[in-house]
Amino acid sequence: MNEPNRLFTTTDAGIPVESDEHSLTAGPGGPILLQDAYLIEQMAQFNRERIPERQPHAKGSGAFGRFEVTADVSRYTKAALFQPGVKTDLVARFSTVAGERGSPDTWRDPRGFAVKFYTSEGNYDMVGNNTPVFFVKDPMKFQHFIRSQKRRADSNLRDHDMQWDFWTLSPESAHQVTWLMGDRGIPRTWRHMNGYTSHTYMWVNARGEEFWVKYHFKTDQGIECFTQHEADQMAAADTDYHTRDLFEHIAAGDFPSWTLYVQIMPYEDAAGYRFNPFDLTKVWPHGDYPLIEVGRMTLDRNPTDNHAEIEQAAFQPNNLVPGIGPSPDRMLLARLFSYADAHRYRIGANYQQLPVNAPVVPVHSYSKDGAMAYRKVTDPVYAPNSHGGPAADTERHGSPPTWETDGRIVRSAYVSHAEDDDWGQPGTMVREVLDDAARDRLVDNVVGHLLNGVTEPVLQRAFGYWHNIDENIGDRIEDGVRAKQDEKDPKAAEQANPARSSMQHKA
Ligand code: NDP
Ligand code: HEM
Repeated sequence: MNEPNRLFTTTDAGIPVESDEHSLTAGPGGPILLQDAYLIEQMAQFNRERIPERQPHAKGSGAFGRFEVTADVSRYTKAALFQPGVKTDLVARFSTVAGERGSPDTWRDPRGFAVKFYTSEGNYDMVGNNTPVFFVKDPMKFQHFIRSQKRRADSNLRDHDMQWDFWTLSPESAHQVTWLMGDRGIPRTWRHMNGYTSHTYMWVNARGEEFWVKYHFKTDQGIECFTQHEADQMAAADTDYHTRDLFEHIAAGDFPSWTLYVQIMPYEDAAGYRFNPFDLTKVWPHGDYPLIEVGRMTLDRNPTDNHAEIEQAAFQPNNLVPGIGPSPDRMLLARLFSYADAHRYRIGANYQQLPVNAPVVPVHSYSKDGAMAYRKVTDPVYAPNSHGGPAADTERHGSPPTWETDGRIVRSAYVSHAEDDDWGQPGTMVREVLDDAARDRLVDNVVGHLLNGVTEPVLQRAFGYWHNIDENIGDRIEDGVRAKQDEKDPKAAEQANPARSSMQHKA
């Protein structure tokens, strides 16, 4: 039957195929023939469908949309995308950190919040999380941290003992762990969480004045979280709940949005500020640096090919446009290298030529060749040259955003500022931000987590860790864990902690 708009199957070379159902065989009962190139193409392409998953942040989903500037922050940055009224197309991807590509969306974990802005000055990538702080402050510890959250070598199981072992030996993790164990450790959906740069960046205005900046993308849907119980139920019922929620809401025309605010610190304030403003385990209290509105991000278009548009999306914090620069945050400086390296391995040397990663402005780089090169290169292929090839616009973009530095090359901790310690800010969160009900849930979450395979002496260190954050919360967590242990196995509990058990018996 010849239907007018009917599509006919072809090979990848566009050649019409004879059958979608039957391989070539030597007679109906005979063997399959090697000359069935179409069958072989089907099998070979199938074997190459998977690319390596992202090392961290493997499970995620994303969508396209735009950013619209609603206020005037031009006195702080000359970045074209943040000038009044400008609209910029973007792709965003949200993710969990430790789980693999098929892992449940509702595991307790920070969430990635990555945005690629296709600006008129090239791609700008904001690769943040849904939390304003992080577990470690030196990139030397990042790889170890991630391994402690993933799977053991022997059983290939995740292991709370290993997680708390790392955390309690790394007191700088206390702020992020407090945040993680609280309500926001499990957002209800991607739509109901905030995004933060977490890091401090630099903004530079048209007069060359420099500022330190932190971004806060606040959800316009309102913050909503799952309790541990709800999340556990959901993990069993719908592994892909967050992925589904985002896709279905956008498909139904219910477009999620976030309002972007920034905190701005004058360049000169950094040296004398009470907290080291580049320490990724600290926030800048709102009272010190209030939020300033910038604009709104809206997601309104789903991918049509998740692999091409989301799995192969390559976000990299080193994609910074004029008017935006890095800061002395060591974690950020290491990330400027790490991501492009990961993309070259995960996707291939020419990953920036893929449609989702390509800028909307013309590319005039001298990069050439490599596997799957798609963009055509023209002569001259070197610089400097006398043939009219591209040359850097040194007058306009001559000086990158920088800062002063001095001293010998060392391996050392950050210079401490007046109120820098590991316990102060998480203590403030527990005492001043959470209400009684949120504190109860925090205690329950930590007790549940510790009872799930954490052994001595890590357990004892975990109690000390929480006592350092807040005496009262520490007592409640220790009592909660010991009471459950007593219930389950009184003898073992006494062996683990004879002093406490004898006190209880006396009482
Ligand atoms: P504020 O009272 O001005 O801010 C507290 C902030 O805490 C809120 O604005 C909200 O951030 C966030 N928050 C509310 N509930 C929770 C929760 N359950 N888990 C995590 N965060 C929550 O105080 P300060 O700015 O002086 O900060 C006090 C403490 O609040 C800090 O030590 C830090 O632990 C925490 N915090 C501070 C943030 C900041 O950038 N200053 C951001 C997030 C937390 P939001 O408005 O971003 O939703
Ligand atoms: C993903 C490294 C810290 C946010 C990744 C990936 C690597 C990596 C290698 C996988 C990239 C890919 O294959 O596409 C590092 C290193 C860090 C660090 C070395 C510290 C030294 C952070 C911090 C944040 C963050 C502090 C948030 C503030 C993300 C996000 C993704 C990601 C959101 C997923 C991006 C996407 O959706 O594709 N990280 N990371 N990372 N990281 Fe980091």
